[in-house]
Amino acid sequence: MREALMAQQIPLTVVDRWNRPLRALRLSVTDRCNLRCQYCMPEEDYTWLPRQTLLTFEEMARLTDVFTQLGVDKVRITGGEPLLRKDLPILIRLLRQNPRIQDIALTTNGVLLADQAADLYRAGLHRVTVSLDTLRPDRFKALTKREMLDRVLEGIRAVGAAGFTGLKIDTVVIRGFNDDELVDLVEYGKQVSGEVRFIEYMDVGGATEWAPEKVLSRTAMLQILSEQYGSIEPIVENSSAPAQRFRLPDGTIFGIIASTTTPFCATCDRSRLTADGMWYLCLYARQGIDLREPLRAGVETETLQSLILAGWNNRRDRGAEERKALEHRSTRGQFIAIEQLREDPHLEMHARGG
Ligand code: GTP
Ligand code: 5AD
Ligand code: SF4
Repeated sequence: MREALMAQQIPLTVVDRWNRPLRALRLSVTDRCNLRCQYCMPEEDYTWLPRQTLLTFEEMARLTDVFTQLGVDKVRITGGEPLLRKDLPILIRLLRQNPRIQDIALTTNGVLLADQAADLYRAGLHRVTVSLDTLRPDRFKALTKREMLDRVLEGIRAVGAAGFTGLKIDTVVIRGFNDDELVDLVEYGKQVSGEVRFIEYMDVGGATEWAPEKVLSRTAMLQILSEQYGSIEPIVENSSAPAQRFRLPDGTIFGIIASTTTPFCATCDRSRLTADGMWYLCLYARQGIDLREPLRAGVETETLQSLILAGWNNRRDRGAEERKALEHRSTRGQFIAIEQLREDPHLEMHARGG
């Protein structure tokens, strides 16, 4: 009865101040990582989230249930590196019990994927996206500070072998580092039946080495690719996804995520839950909403619903657009200084899930 009453109070579509619906939830399961990519986690050591504050899988599933009562139907498991969290298939199974979730995806660096892909598939995970920025071992080591390219490539092969379709490969393009590998990566994508997406380097929290001249724009990427492939056809889609997709003359599809030069804030329907239960309404938000505290205090589902509803209704974030507005001023350097990142680890990209 009370459920029914509550259901009446919840608007059919929960929207924010800019009329953007609440739909995609990114669930970070750990802030730890086994790589040290220069664009995300350049330091060796960080202020890590205290272990006792990390949500259990049951707590994550409970909060996710509440989100889905308010409109969320897509969940992406992220980190840090999510495969570092033990027994991840248990979380997938819990989420699969929720019929409102249409799509459960995973973003991983691939290092541990060869061992885990089959179990994740059996648990009901729908899709996998692997980060891969270079095919050259020396560059991989320079970028990630680890010699693990072979393991990543093995992990990517394991995705198809386990039965998954819809593999995506995410490549952050850094001018002067991997901008000569775009064609090689497209060709590699064909071999592994993966859709490659090139991502403009973003000045997110944690990207302390970001500088405007290291960004290769979507236009420049298309120029490089069309020199090799000839005419590239944009695919017209009406979606809130960050990637714009393109088709090569041979039918190969790839994407570009132009968050830096062409932010997609206007249609952004995503929010992020950190591994310790802080809810962030934007990748660039400086503050989050603590859902762990009320959850652990044992509040009713209705109270959690109200918190989330109020949070989303008040959302006005357009972080990437605001950063872009600074581009013609000398003030656009790194987004958050290292001292501040040390004080509040939630400001890091690796805490709020790439
Ligand atoms: P699907 O469309 O479900 O496959 O997911 P996706 O396109 O959101 O892909 P994914 O989660 O792998 O994100 C790809 C990249 O887009 C990230 O690695 C970021 O570089 C960028 N991105 C993701 N979320 C945001 C966001 O909230 N804001 C901005 N500006 N960029 C984002
Ligand atoms: N710029 C763009 N994308 C980034 N990611 C992390 N840091 C950055 C950044 N500075 C994204 C990458 C990576 C995923 C985990 O997070 O896509 O593959
Ligand atoms: Fe690299 Fe992702 Fe780890 Fe950041 S979280 S260091 S991008 S693998």
